[in-house]
Amino acid sequence: MALITRLLFLISMLDLVHKAETIEQCNGPRQLPERDQMLQGHTYKTRWARSGFAECLFVCREEKVCQSFNFVVKESKCEFNNRTKEACRPEDFVPDLDRLYVKLDVSRVPLGSVPELPATSCHEINANEGKRMDDGTYWMLLSGKIVRAFCNMTSQPEDIDECSADPPICTNGRCNNTVASYHCFCHPGFTGNGKTCSDIDECADNLHDCHVNTYCDNTYGSYKCLPYLNGSTILRNDSRYLENLTSFLKPVVNSSVRSRFVRCWHACDDKGPTVTIIQVGSFIFGGYSDVSWKNFSSCRNTGSTKAFLYSLMNYNNGSGYAVYNPVKRGIIHWRTFESVPVKRCASHGPFFNADLEITNNAASNKYSRTHCGFSYNLPTGAGYGDTCKFYAGTYRFTPTDVEVFYETTS
Ligand SMILES: *[C@@H]1O[C@H](CO)[C@@H](O)[C@H](O)[C@H]1NC(C)=O
Ligand SMILES: *[C@@H]1O[C@H](CO)[C@@H](O)[C@H](O)[C@H]1NC(C)=O
Ligand SMILES: *[C@@H]1O[C@H](CO)[C@@H](O)[C@H](O)[C@H]1NC(C)=O
Ligand SMILES: *[C@@H]1O[C@H](CO)[C@@H](O)[C@H](O)[C@H]1NC(C)=O
Ligand SMILES: *[C@@H]1O[C@H](CO)[C@@H](O)[C@H](O)[C@H]1NC(C)=O
Ligand SMILES: *[C@@H]1O[C@H](CO)[C@@H](O)[C@H](O)[C@H]1NC(C)=O
Ligand SMILES: *[C@@H]1O[C@H](CO)[C@@H](O)[C@H](O)[C@H]1NC(C)=O
Ligand SMILES: *[C@@H]1O[C@H](CO)[C@@H](O)[C@H](O)[C@H]1NC(C)=O
Ligand SMILES: *[C@@H]1O[C@H](CO)[C@@H](O)[C@H](O)[C@H]1NC(C)=O
Repeated sequence: MALITRLLFLISMLDLVHKAETIEQCNGPRQLPERDQMLQGHTYKTRWARSGFAECLFVCREEKVCQSFNFVVKESKCEFNNRTKEACRPEDFVPDLDRLYVKLDVSRVPLGSVPELPATSCHEINANEGKRMDDGTYWMLLSGKIVRAFCNMTSQPEDIDECSADPPICTNGRCNNTVASYHCFCHPGFTGNGKTCSDIDECADNLHDCHVNTYCDNTYGSYKCLPYLNGSTILRNDSRYLENLTSFLKPVVNSSVRSRFVRCWHACDDKGPTVTIIQVGSFIFGGYSDVSWKNFSSCRNTGSTKAFLYSLMNYNNGSGYAVYNPVKRGIIHWRTFESVPVKRCASHGPFFNADLEITNNAASNKYSRTHCGFSYNLPTGAGYGDTCKFYAGTYRFTPTDVEVFYETTS
């Protein structure tokens, strides 16, 4: 070997020795692997390490969650743990001839010091760190939430004050700290199991006192009573009108809890189920259709099992004024062509077959009519076909006002 080659060899050897010393100083002796051991049940991630366990060490140092790792020697694989053996039950640290265990010491993030690494008990922190944070509070996992809470490390065993948690552990409740536990006393409108409080759905649970003319709308911690059928000027004179129409609608609506009716203005096609309210002088009547109105160019007969006609103010045997007499009339049968309950087309407004049809531009003509007894049962005392004056006072009529409301559940 030439002298120069020997010199180079010597220099590189010295360099290696120097590097080894540096690693020793930086890592400290505690970071040395414990052979034939492993920590089980705390691996959050694995990774191949082609250049040996030092690669695992390098990666572990970069991650806040990494507290230690197992190295599977034959496979050259890292198993990164979110705990050290000190923080765990002794039975988690077991002999394993295929692995070695390394605790990260020098650059390890203390357990409970960052939200990414919450502790599950104060004892765990004490065992792991052996020292305390200045203000005594730590990031903890409490009832599935990551919070900052106070640990009393001098009590035996170490005790967490759950009521000091930030954000509060008892959301929507008052917290009472007890030895080794806590209790949430829920605020009104919330219910709980002592550990958490959740909103009571007064509407679904039927715990509300909403009037029949309103529907119940659940809110966070309470509920509101909103109009069941909002904004009818035709029905505004008498609360009985709204009450009767609501009781007619409730058996046919999609949801007994969520359904209500909202007014549509000039655009009531394709809205799903609707209720129509018609006023002709002192007469008030209308119908419900469970199928959407459509703008078909020629009228289409449409089946229904839920449609009905109703009247609130109706014919008083020739006096000219309507009397209050709420009635609801369902479908006779609709399986024959003549008796389909609903017709849908561009030439008409609400069209309950012959029984009740509102034409386009109804306010300026007298083609709207009630031709009774075709698809819907005749009201008591009402004339059949074109002798029907029951609903509007006359067979053909010009409505004073027509309102359409569509059903919504949102
Ligand atoms: C730690 O890892 C275990 C095992 O994968 C996992 O069940 C647990 O949720 C992890 N804990 C945290 C705080 O990430
Ligand atoms: C911690 O616990 C000890 C023993 O139970 C008690 O004497 C002490 O007052 C507690 N400290 C705090 C800050 O609650
Ligand atoms: C709160 O807990 C303490 C025991 O730690 C108990 O004496 C007290 O009665 C509790 N308060 C309420 C309102 O239950
Ligand atoms: C009732 O209708 C009016 C307008 O017609 C609207 O401003 C109001 O928000 C509605 N109220 C509810 C509770 O839907
Ligand atoms: C409501 O009452 C007013 C005043 O009494 C009356 O002019 C109007 O015609 C009534 N409307 C209906 C639909 O009865
Ligand atoms: C109409 O409403 C009044 C007042 O709420 C009620 O007494 C009556 O029984 C109702 N009639 C019908 C047919 O629903
Ligand atoms: C309904 O259809 C007719 C043609 O059949 C059209 O002129 C009209 O604009 C349509 N109306 C709506 C509201 O779409
Ligand atoms: C009209 O009079 C007839 C016979 O007198 C009676 O049967 C019917 O019930 C009356 N109708 C109304 C709406 O009052
Ligand atoms: C109600 O149910 C019918 C079918 O039964 C559906 O076509 C309609 O969209 C529903 N309406 C609402 C408001 O959910």
